[in-house]
Amino acid sequence: MIKSVSDDQQYIIKSIMELCNIERFDVDATFGNGSFWKNLPCPSYCFDINPQKEQVLTYSSDALPFDNEIIKSFMFDPPFLTYIKEAREHNSIMAKRYGGYWSYKDLEDHYKKTIKEAHRVLVKGGILVIKCQDIVHNHSLHSTHINIFNWSQGLFRLKDMFVLTAKNRIPIPQKGGEAKKTQKHARIYHSYFMVLQRI
Ligand SMILES: C[S@@+](CC[C@H](N)C(=O)[O-])C[C@H]1O[C@@H](n2cnc3c(N)ncnc32)[C@H](O)[C@@H]1O
Repeated sequence: MIKSVSDDQQYIIKSIMELCNIERFDVDATFGNGSFWKNLPCPSYCFDINPQKEQVLTYSSDALPFDNEIIKSFMFDPPFLTYIKEAREHNSIMAKRYGGYWSYKDLEDHYKKTIKEAHRVLVKGGILVIKCQDIVHNHSLHSTHINIFNWSQGLFRLKDMFVLTAKNRIPIPQKGGEAKKTQKHARIYHSYFMVLQRI
């Protein structure tokens, strides 16, 4: 029985592939260092704006070198961080590893454009998987997974949603004992894999 919650992203990706009858993803548009595919077949086309591996082509996920409606499956794992001052200072390891945006509006623009591009290149019924995480930015919670649901309306239907729980998180250094007094939002310990089917 495939479950919707796990702390193992390989389990989640493998489960999505099984449920959607995907033997090998056609596209990974944000390949990074390819950790998604450690024990799974590497996608046929791998892209990244800033490639770290030889087999990866330099393209932006919102402008891919494909004709309309020829791709069956599309993986999109964009940065989820925005660089407020504290995040830049304290999350520098995360930011270096995964990239980020200068504002939530920049994040929104990139996500919306890529959802549109995925809709253009995917066949009807094709699968777009988006890994995302909600964030607290400028003292507000931005529920990115709900936003993605809204941004994809009319283009995709939500087929499945998995929750990846974090085994551990990079600690944010706190000044003295002020952490509890100043904390306003729960620290986020989970991310999502949204499985969207092209309409
Ligand atoms: C969270 S990481 C992806 C991690 C990847 N799934 C892995 O397994 O290693 C986000 C990636 O998106 C890439 N990226 C950022 N903006 C992009 C864009 N416009 N088009 C394509 N890739 C982009 C970054 O270079 C980074 O490698």
